[in-house]
Amino acid sequence: MVKKKEEIKIRPFWYSDIWIFPKMITIITSMDKEGNINAAPYSHIMQYDVMQKNPRMLIGFRQESHSFENICATGEFVVNCPSADYLDDMMETARFWPEGVNELEHTGLTMIPSRKVKPPSIEECPQIAECTVDQIIRLDKSSGIIIANIEAIVMDEGLEQMDRSERIPAMNLPVGLGDQNRRYYYHAHTDNVSMHELAEPPGGQKGGKIKMTMDWDDKAVEALMNIPVAVRKMVSERLEEHAQEKGASSVTAQHLVEMGEEYGIDEELFARFKT
Ligand SMILES: Cc1cc2nc3c(=O)[nH]c(=O)nc-3n(C[C@H](O)[C@H](O)[C@H](O)COP(=O)(O)O)c2cc1C
Repeated sequence: MVKKKEEIKIRPFWYSDIWIFPKMITIITSMDKEGNINAAPYSHIMQYDVMQKNPRMLIGFRQESHSFENICATGEFVVNCPSADYLDDMMETARFWPEGVNELEHTGLTMIPSRKVKPPSIEECPQIAECTVDQIIRLDKSSGIIIANIEAIVMDEGLEQMDRSERIPAMNLPVGLGDQNRRYYYHAHTDNVSMHELAEPPGGQKGGKIKMTMDWDDKAVEALMNIPVAVRKMVSERLEEHAQEKGASSVTAQHLVEMGEEYGIDEELFARFKT
């Protein structure tokens, strides 16, 4: 039922006390310059640049946190996503341990070597991103934002091959629902997941707003129709630019393959969009 609305006063910690942001739960591992390991949960995290050329994440920290200080000092860290079975261990790493304490030693979590960076990864996490710093933004009187390059994505064997409907329950990632009074943290478990199809609008397959200013061969048009509708217009414009840069008078499917290679999109990725 639709309810009457009321304006809420914006108080400190509005984001967790009042507003509900369902969030990803991660444990970030980092090291200080002396090599001491640190671990703490971070949920203010978002994918930032999804292309393979420069995959990045954006993460928000308290500037005086050990994690932020370590990352600024060494430029490296790991984003570990624990399954819901390890929420108690995750909470243990959130406690305000003194500097230099490895929070993981107070948990049942296991450290394993990372592949591309020095801080360790956590074995119990099915999904891990090894990161290096791209940009540090110190917001005035507020948090620090780190934009990170993803150097490696490491997952439990077999997860990549699964259909999303299988992968979601297999990973069992919790959803963070914020806290009450910085003490009581709420989490949802992903055991009741629904799926909704993003359908093409009527006529969407015909290309919608796409304006072709050059000649396109049939294979190029067919390939374009396999691109998700949300980016089809952008891809068609870039593709014409690409063909012009190559000195071509018409757009061919080969131009799409070349452009795909430049952006890190291969046949396998295209296949994911085919219905
Ligand atoms: C589920 C959860 C999510 C959290 N997310 C963040 C976050 O995104 N940003 C942040 O600054 N602190 C966050 N915290 C608080 C830090 O984990 C906490 O301040 C921790 O003690 C910092 O440890 P560190 O100084 O070793 O980095 C979160 C805590 C929990 C329990």
